[in-house]
Formats: sequence, structure tokens, C-alpha cells
Amino acid sequence: MTTRQSVMLLVVLVLSLPGLIHSFKPLFNSNSFTHREITRIAVLRKTAEVCQDIAASKGLDFNLIVSASVVKAHAKKENYIRGRWSLGQICHTLQDFYSHSNWVELGNKAPYSALIRPDQPLKNLAGQNTPTCRSCVGENCTNNILPDVLNQGLLTSGYFSIISSSKPTGKCSHGGSADRTSRRDPVGGINKDTLDSSHGFRHNEAANLAIRATMELLEDIRLVAGDTNFMR
Ligand SMILES: *[C@@H]1O[C@H](CO)[C@@H](O)[C@H](O)[C@H]1NC(C)=O
Repeated sequence: MTTRQSVMLLVVLVLSLPGLIHSFKPLFNSNSFTHREITRIAVLRKTAEVCQDIAASKGLDFNLIVSASVVKAHAKKENYIRGRWSLGQICHTLQDFYSHSNWVELGNKAPYSALIRPDQPLKNLAGQNTPTCRSCVGENCTNNILPDVLNQGLLTSGYFSIISSSKPTGKCSHGGSADRTSRRDPVGGINKDTLDSSHGFRHNEAANLAIRATMELLEDIRLVAGDTNFMR
């Protein structure tokens, strides 16, 4: 896919955000952020930034409404289904990191840039045999990530299966009714997909980091494509 194509796909994505991009979790949850909303917010914010920069460089005032209608007109002419899939998949995976890992619980206030830099290794991952969780207290999973993991800044995520309940000893689960691994010790999970999830009390933090991470990804595309192509 050429840069030009990826930029076009991006714009199509902005306008048509189809059912392809499922929620950060559920299809119906009025208060929680969905992947669609996270991507939409990130794309709109980044697009607004580029518009402002272009306008400023020409000594003009930027008007979002006019720009949006121009973008719409472009998007109507083309239909890049495969590319939309690709970008949607990248965004989905990138955003899930913030909901499914313990990045937020480790106290991080910024996105993990190494995720979108292939040359940078992921550091400080919890080892295969390192226990990471203990059982929640009833429904309360506030303190289920082991203090050692948090103190050492070890990055981890949760096991998930709808079929089997098996997972390595002491490992965190994703959590939720569909996740059978979360029913065995250590019971409960760490996902932040919705406000009601095991770690739903950190849902908003995770969603905001996901928005910023998506904007970093878009900024990378913008730098490669240039402002004008980015807007096409
Ligand atoms: C959950 O447990 C923590 C202590 O581990 C406590 O501070 C908190 O109030 C509990 N939350 C609820 C909703 O019971």
C-alpha cells in the first residue's frame, strides 16, 4: 500500500467508521468508550491539528466545518475496503493494549511509543513463569495485580479463552463472563474495556491513552505523507 493510498484510506475511515471497528468492548454501552469513538476522536483531533497548521502556514483562519465537507466529498468518490480493514485492525490492536495490559496500572501517563516503533524492543515484560495476579475479593478486583509486578514495573496482560479455563500458574486473566480462565485461581481479570469491567475503574484513563496513542500513529502517517496528502 502506498503512502498516498494509506492516507486516502484514513480519510475514508474518518467518515464511514463502519461496524467493522468493534467497541473497546461491548456493542452497547452508553457510558464506555468504544474503539469507534476512540478512533473517531483521535482522527478528528489530528485532522483538526493538520488543518490548523495548513491554515496557519497560509495565514488563514481554519474552519473545521468547511474542511469536513470537503473531506466528505472526497471520500464519497472512493471505497478502499481492504485498506479500511488494515487501518482499523492496527487501531484496534493498538487501542486494546491500553485496555488489556497493566500499562495504566503501572502508573504510566503517556502512550507506550515503542509499540509503534518496530526498531524499539518492548522492555520489562513479565516472564513466562512470573506470577502476576492474585484472586479478586469477590467482585472487587482493585488490588489483584501483585505488588511485586507493580513495584518492578513489569508489563503483562490477561489470559483469555471462551473454551478452556487453563492458564499458567499465577497469571492474570482478561476477565468477564466470556473468559473461562478468569474463573480459576487467580480469579477475576484486569481488562478495562468498559466501566463495568474487572478494572473498569480505570476505563477512562485507558481510553484516553488509547486516543493519544492513535493520534501518535496518525502523526506518523502525517509525517510520511505530508499535510496535504494526509488531508486528501
Ligand atoms: C475494593 O477493595 C479495596 C481494597 O482492596 C477498597 O479500598 C475498595 O473500597 C473496594 N471497593 C468496593 C467497591 O468495595
